[in-house]
Amino acid sequence: MTIAFLNGEFLPLEQAQISPMDRGFLFGDGIYEVIPTLNGKAVGLGWHLERLNDGLTALGIVNPNTDDSWAELINTLVQKNSQGLNSDSIGVYIQVTRGTVMQRAHGFPQDVAPTVFAFAFATAAPPIPDREKVKVFSVITSADRRWQRCNIKSTSLLGNVLHYQEGNVAGKQETILYNDEQEITEASACNIFIVHQGEILTPPLDNQILPGITRRIVIESLAREGIKVKEQPISLEQLRLADEVWLTSSSKEIAPVTAVDDTPVGNGEVGEMWLKALTCFNKHKFSL
Ligand code: PDD
Repeated sequence: MTIAFLNGEFLPLEQAQISPMDRGFLFGDGIYEVIPTLNGKAVGLGWHLERLNDGLTALGIVNPNTDDSWAELINTLVQKNSQGLNSDSIGVYIQVTRGTVMQRAHGFPQDVAPTVFAFAFATAAPPIPDREKVKVFSVITSADRRWQRCNIKSTSLLGNVLHYQEGNVAGKQETILYNDEQEITEASACNIFIVHQGEILTPPLDNQILPGITRRIVIESLAREGIKVKEQPISLEQLRLADEVWLTSSSKEIAPVTAVDDTPVGNGEVGEMWLKALTCFNKHKFSL
């Protein structure tokens, strides 16, 4: 039985109920986080809580918890669910919406308590640091049709869902998106890195992409080993010429992409830089 958290109470997930008048349901008016844990230890916790707070500030919702109380909530959910989920890799999903109001109106309501919902779930095991054995990804590309504030980790994910489904219908595991300038933004649920002409590149942070915590850990852990990642625009052309393409997210860590639009990436095999990046990531992920 999965134990969830709703508005101050731990309860079986099946019993968690929210009013249909919640603004999260009516407007997608809320933000969320997915925090990965491994053997009970959270990865990038401070940065996840910082982004959660930034998202709430962007929406004008007062953060209902301190960092310490969020950390305690995450720990408790992992503890309560570790046996039931029977996995070393547990993700904690947190959602905060503007709350429930009995009248549907676009304007922000006054004096409404935010709705806080969280649950734990088993995630896939981290990627195997082996170029032969790791799970590889095949993706399509598509014009990014989402909104102009993708830096907010909003629960309004319809654009992302439709883009993910596009790839899925094509039999692929992700969709890499590009803007009107034919520059790569991100994927429907991941950030992107490429290796091109011996350099590691990733699109810079702006309103077009989510400031991924895994992206940040990759950049920082490589920096600690003296390897530079250039945060600069990546053209669709560069993506097509790349020797390596990686997807990063809390649930995937660093996933190698071996085909883009049915064309092999580089020689079609998992690259050496991917292994180096994952090795650095694993070395530093609990200390950043
Ligand atoms: N997705 N970009 C988008 C659009 C995402 O949805 C995500 C994460 C990322 C990577 O962010 P992070 O490294 O902080 O997980 C980038 C999560 C896992 C999800 O929606 O389930």
